[in-house]
Amino acid sequence: MTDRRFILAALALACLGIYLFVSAPPPLAERTAPEADIPVAGMLAALQGANEAVRGLWTREIVQAGGPRGLKFDEHWRDADLDAGPLPALFLRETARSLERHPLRLSLFLGSDFPIAKANAFEGAQLERFRQLRADRAPQFFVVPDTGLHTGMFADLAVTEACVQCHNEHVDTPKRDWQLDDVMGAVTWSYPAAMVSLEEFQRAVAALHQAVRDAYEAYLAKARGFARPPAIGTCWPRDGYCLPDIDTFMAEVYRRTAPKTLAALNALAEQRPPTPPVPATAEAR
Ligand code: HEC
Repeated sequence: MTDRRFILAALALACLGIYLFVSAPPPLAERTAPEADIPVAGMLAALQGANEAVRGLWTREIVQAGGPRGLKFDEHWRDADLDAGPLPALFLRETARSLERHPLRLSLFLGSDFPIAKANAFEGAQLERFRQLRADRAPQFFVVPDTGLHTGMFADLAVTEACVQCHNEHVDTPKRDWQLDDVMGAVTWSYPAAMVSLEEFQRAVAALHQAVRDAYEAYLAKARGFARPPAIGTCWPRDGYCLPDIDTFMAEVYRRTAPKTLAALNALAEQRPPTPPVPATAEAR
């Protein structure tokens, strides 16, 4: 019989392994459990924990620390004549685009009911869920009727004055009275299955890490072409006109996401019935 707690603990250690040996490719989980027995909500919550950690890293250590150093961030950062990088929402979109290319059918979206960009508007069932989320701030898990996708929706809060100020002043904003700590929008994660296997869970976490790597590499490629390119190495914008290279950036990503992934795995292990079903012949007590 398989001890599920043991497998989850082993998987947690495998994730920690990714964290400790960041330069190594992510190890494939041993396929001890081909059956899908993890509720997808647990996987989506784990992914969101990791995504939130990356969003915090990007917003504070690159965008906010970079501003005073002369690094610019803009919604039109892709324009050839603009020496700029992606705003937080656009770094997330880069990540989402890379995820779309992954064979795992995992999707990520940042939306709102008062979006700057119309394409980011929640509609239909998603909008109803978002209103509920705004009322109690608890994550929502549901199946989107038209796509059949299992979806987790998580609040995106105005955590700094910069969020509020930029949105309130933006020329395209439909709302100019955002306040600190408001639920400005929500991150949604979707997946086609209600239950996932341990292997899928680990592949999803690895896919997110790869997507973050792709997004950061796209920015580095742009930054190398700036009229005045920043130094790229083991330094951060807080140190000067400088950006972390891909390995330095990803090491920090792993350092911040690994505890979130471990916490999610532990939560799953605790929810799971500790013993396998009692065989028909055993005493049912
Ligand atoms: C310097 C300006 C700026 C800052 C700072 C900023 N945003 Fe945005 N944000 C934007 C722009 C521009 C978009 C639209 C990007 C797009 O999709 O084209 C956007 C998109 C979003 C969206 C998707 C819905 C929409 O409005 O299109 C959410 C939610 C969001 N931001 C929340 C935040 C939060 C929370 C923070 C702080 C952690 C933040 N933003 C910081 C400019 C900013």
